[in-house]
Formats: sequence, C-alpha cells, structure tokens
Amino acid sequence: MIAFKNLIEIKRGGEQAVYLQIQNALIHLIQQGVLTSRLRLPGSRDMAVQLSVHRKTVVAAYDELMSQGWIESVPSKGTFVSGQLPEVKPEGLVQEARFSENAPFGFDRIEALHRIEPALPSSLTLDEGTPDVRIAPVTEIFRHYRSVISRKYNAKHLNYGPFYGDLSLREVLVKHLQETRGLRCSVDQILITRGSQMAMYLSSQLLHREGGISIVGETNYIAASLTLEHAGAQVMQVSVDDKGLVTHEVEALCQEYIIRSVYVTSHHHHPTTVTMSAERRMHLVELSREYGFAILEDDYDYDFHYQRAPLLPLISIASNGNVVYMGALCKIVAPAIRIGYMVAPKDFIASAGHLRRIIDRQGDAIMERSIAQMILQGDLQRHSRKALKLYHARRDHFCNLLSEHLSDYLSFKIPEGGMAIWALLRGDMEWGKVAKDCKAKGLMIPDYKNYDQLGLGHNGLRLGFASLDFDEQKRVVEILNEVLEAYEKRIKK
Ligand SMILES: Cc1ncc(COP(=O)(O)O)c(C=O)c1O
Repeated sequence: MIAFKNLIEIKRGGEQAVYLQIQNALIHLIQQGVLTSRLRLPGSRDMAVQLSVHRKTVVAAYDELMSQGWIESVPSKGTFVSGQLPEVKPEGLVQEARFSENAPFGFDRIEALHRIEPALPSSLTLDEGTPDVRIAPVTEIFRHYRSVISRKYNAKHLNYGPFYGDLSLREVLVKHLQETRGLRCSVDQILITRGSQMAMYLSSQLLHREGGISIVGETNYIAASLTLEHAGAQVMQVSVDDKGLVTHEVEALCQEYIIRSVYVTSHHHHPTTVTMSAERRMHLVELSREYGFAILEDDYDYDFHYQRAPLLPLISIASNGNVVYMGALCKIVAPAIRIGYMVAPKDFIASAGHLRRIIDRQGDAIMERSIAQMILQGDLQRHSRKALKLYHARRDHFCNLLSEHLSDYLSFKIPEGGMAIWALLRGDMEWGKVAKDCKAKGLMIPDYKNYDQLGLGHNGLRLGFASLDFDEQKRVVEILNEVLEAYEKRIKK
C-alpha cells in the first residue's frame, strides 16, 4: 500500500489552498509514473486520515482531478487513476517539481539582442537620462483613471476595442500635436503604441523585412540600431557633429546605394544631445524626397528644451509624407505609463496597426482614455511646465558641479535640452573601470559600451541629471570625484 503521507507534503497556512496542494501533488505523482494508470487510490476517508486533513478537502481534490480527467470513479469499486492516461515510465521520485532552466527544444536565442538588464533602482543611480518619477502626476492619473473606469457608459471600453488605439486619445492628439509641434495630421494617421520603442519596432519591420539599408548616426541610440538590424536592415553609419547627423554623408550614401530609411533623433541626438540644425533638417527632408527613403524621426524628449522653444520636428516641415514620427508620453508622464504614438501616412499606419495587432491585440484603452482627459483638461501641460522648470534648474546645477569638481577628468557641453549630459572622459581613463569603482561605493552608472557600438573609443557617457535632486547630484559628483582622483593616482604611479 502506498504511504501517501510520505509522498504528499502539505504546507498549512501556505498561499495555496490545501485541496489544491493535494490535487497538484497527485498530478505530479501521476506524471512521474509513481501512480500508474488504473491504480486504485484510497477512498476519501482513508486519504483524509493519512494526510491529516478534513475529508471534504480530499473530496474537493478528487472532484477537481476527476473533472480534469486524471482520475475516475468506478461505482461500488472505488477511485482509480484514469485508464485513459498514457503509460509513464517511473523516473524515480522527485519531491519538488523544478522547471527546467534550459529549453530542451531548439530556438533562436537572438544573442544580438541580449544586453545587460537595467539595474534595479539601487540607493544611488546615475541613469542615462530618465525623468524623475517621484514628480509623476500620479494624483491626476489616478483621478482620471478612476473617473473613466467608474462611469457606466465607459464599460464598453473594457471590451476589445480598436487596435489603432483609443479614438478619444487619437482625436486629442491630433489637436495637441498641432498646437505643440505644428504637426497637421488626421486621426487615421495616428497609431497609439506602447511607448516609442513599439513604434520603432513596427516601422522597422514594415520597412526592412526584406532587408535594405538604414542609415543611423555613428553614435546612436543602441536600441534603435538593434531594432533595425533585427528587422532585417543593413545598418550604415554617418558622422554626427555639433549640428547633428551629417547629411552630406547621407547624400553620398544615397548616390551609391538604395537607402530605405534614415533614423534620426533630431531634437536631441541620442547619445550626444546635440540639436540638428535647421539647415541639416531641410537637407535631410530634401534628400528623402529625392531618393525616396523614409525618415524615422524618434522625438523621444520633445518636451524638454531649455534654451528656447523646441524646434519643430521634421515631420512638421515635410509635407511629402516621407517622415514616420515616433513620440511618447513615457518621458513626460513616467516610463511605466506605456503610451506612445506613431504618425505617418494613412496606409503605413494601417499596416502598422495590423502588425501591432498580432503582437499586442490593443493597448490599455482605459489608460489611453485617461491620458486623453489629462490632455483635454490641461493636466499634462501643467505637469510638463513644472517638469521643464525643475529639470532646467537640475541641468544647471549638475553642470556647475561637474565644472567645479570634475573638469580635470571630464569635458562636456551644456545640453540645450533633454535629460542627460554627454560627458567625454579623459583619453587615458576608461568608463568601464570608473563604473566598477563607483559600484563598490554604491553608485551605479550607465554601461559605456552602449554608446560605442563601432568601437571608436570616443569615451563618452550619458549622465542623466533630471532624476536626481540637488543633494543626490552632490553625492554622485562626490563619489565620481573620489573614484577619479584615485584612478589618477594609479595612473601616475
Ligand atoms: C532615443 C530614445 N528613443 C526611444 C526610447 C524609448 O522610449 P519609450 O519609453 O517611449 O519606449 C528611449 C528611451 O530611453 C530613447 O532614449
């Protein structure tokens, strides 16, 4: 007779109900071949005694197992492991079911996409330029979300809806984009995405599934390069100087090859933060017209410009329809609020919508409606002004600290906008070593390798200032100073 009390371990007060623990343990024993097909199980009373549980608990477990087809009851004979189950060779008893770490089947590991996972927020982190989530307008988000979800007439939005995104948000964006960016588009030229990254993915797929060349800057936002390459693009680089992407180099490549797309972060080049000059903007738009490529304009931080009003995006000066514009509210509201958008000609948006549908049936319709309300009622704009003022002050404070304490080691230009400084480390020092020593002192800094995919050795790193208050900035600079001073002493030895 099988001693079930030795085979089934019950954790009382655990997260799982006792009858489920019994049910799962019996399934496990059947799957392992310990309980074979047609084996008679103890009656519920006996089993209850063996396991020291109430009989009703065993009955509940048996009922569940019966309805799932693992066991069967034969009138006036008892309860048996189902005779329909395939025979399993016992493999010896494994008490704890452990899920295999490695898939026993073949699959494409897409190694090229594997990067270091973002660090969990440690006590002190110098990021690559992210907003301060502590000032996120959570009260407003919560108010609108609650109001949207609690209104009876909104219940229909809990159902499947348009995969292009909530209509009210698209309508509000038509007006908002025109007011803030001079961008004239209609509702069917907008697709709501989960952040600009999804827009980048969708457009890369539509443009490069059959290959083709995409041009990016020789320092570039790594995720964009990876997304383009993953879609099938052959990525070529052109220089980036203090006026942004060097468009004459784009022109030279156009004369030699057929170019399908040019990726650009025109407002503040990622990573170097420079704003693309008006002349280069005009030139790039002109080239797109002449050579018929798509401009992928990633306007990830349009809202943050400190020097003057932001420059209008390329899409607002290009009436030829060659620009696919990607924006998001992730930087202005909070990165975890995954709402972005793509603006492009109607046929492109239609295809992007259908492609999006097979990855993610639709976005978060309730959140999208809430954000539409936030824009309509001016909450987003108020928050944007508040954040702009705060980040402006933080930029100045951080730049002053860097000039005062770290100018022997770093050089940088004050960025006109955005949330990060592009800092070049002295040629005889390496960011990798600095990062290691900073970590030992409790400070995480970005991974420098992300910025130098070509191995040019420019020794640059993005230092995010927006998410740190003045005290945190001071502490970061103190640690960097200690680390760099010690580094210098090592070099001189
Ligand atoms: C240049 C650039 N583009 C796109 C993104 C992705 O942003 P989102 O959170 O909107 O997907 C980022 C995020 O940091 C970025 O820096």
